[in-house]
Amino acid sequence: MAGLVRLQPSDHHFHVDGNDSILDAALQAGLPLNYGCSNGNCGLCQARLLSGEVGKISHHDFVFGEAEKSMGHILLCSYTAVSDVVIEAQESAAISEQHITTRVKKLTALTSDIVLLHLQTPRTQRLRFLAGQSVRLDLDGEASATHPIASCPCDDRNIQFHIRLIADDAFSQRIESLKPANTVQVMGPFGDFTLNNRSDRSILFLAFDTGFAPVKSLIEHAMQLEQSENLHLYWIADAEESHYMHNLVRSWIDVFDSFSYTPLNAKDLYPRADPAGGLQADAWQDVSQALLRQVSAEHDKLSDFDIYVAGPDPVARVAWDFLVQNGFPQEQFKSILTC
Ligand code: FES
Repeated sequence: MAGLVRLQPSDHHFHVDGNDSILDAALQAGLPLNYGCSNGNCGLCQARLLSGEVGKISHHDFVFGEAEKSMGHILLCSYTAVSDVVIEAQESAAISEQHITTRVKKLTALTSDIVLLHLQTPRTQRLRFLAGQSVRLDLDGEASATHPIASCPCDDRNIQFHIRLIADDAFSQRIESLKPANTVQVMGPFGDFTLNNRSDRSILFLAFDTGFAPVKSLIEHAMQLEQSENLHLYWIADAEESHYMHNLVRSWIDVFDSFSYTPLNAKDLYPRADPAGGLQADAWQDVSQALLRQVSAEHDKLSDFDIYVAGPDPVARVAWDFLVQNGFPQEQFKSILTC
């Protein structure tokens, strides 16, 4: 079973394979449909079948009224497409804010001062977000901070973050003390550092330090969607060990023909950058200018690309000045501040 699903009134379309629900396929295509539990209880993914044939793939407890049944309402989380179908469903311009109590699944050291925080949502509640977005993490009301999500929205129960631990910082200290099964409140998602589904341009990702986190989410999602556009990642770290997922990125090269990768050390780009104790803002400024000069030299026409920049202050500002102030199309530039 497989079919093309066309949504009305947006006219967006995507393919669904027989083992996937229409909801999962829509989310994997980056379309923000309304949903809640993903398992047939809440009714929030209700939509109307206008034409074509669907097949039930899982039981649902939610009960439709007679009027809804006669109008062809279905639950998108419980049905797949058996043929090409047309479905009436509203897409939200933005995903509404959610507040979810998650539990720590794992806390792993990535480097001496960067940790991977892996949270899991309850079985009946998933976090709806788009690749590249951020959430607010609240630790028992004692400390909170906003961080970009490092994982793919295609696995919306398992949410990962790359967090740099900062000396004498209350949030960092609370993160370090977390144990498996501790609770963390997650609020969000926020931000528009998201893929432009309407663009078929190649993409340059410029990730500085833990700016790799939201870029990882974007690349994994693009690969999940099997996007054919060329993706090139420049990952600039302040020290050799800060390419903390180098092997993962190298594995993407082996699997995806359209992906390429340039790992760079800040010191190689700008010899006066001194990584001892982490780079300061003025050093990042010099490093980002050096990178942008290199990227310009390596690509004949930057306006053929969409450019995504993620990193600490002031790399996004430097990139904006270098690119957009010099005529690069504003709508092809996105940035996010990370730390
Ligand atoms: S998402 Fe809750 S019933 Fe489908």
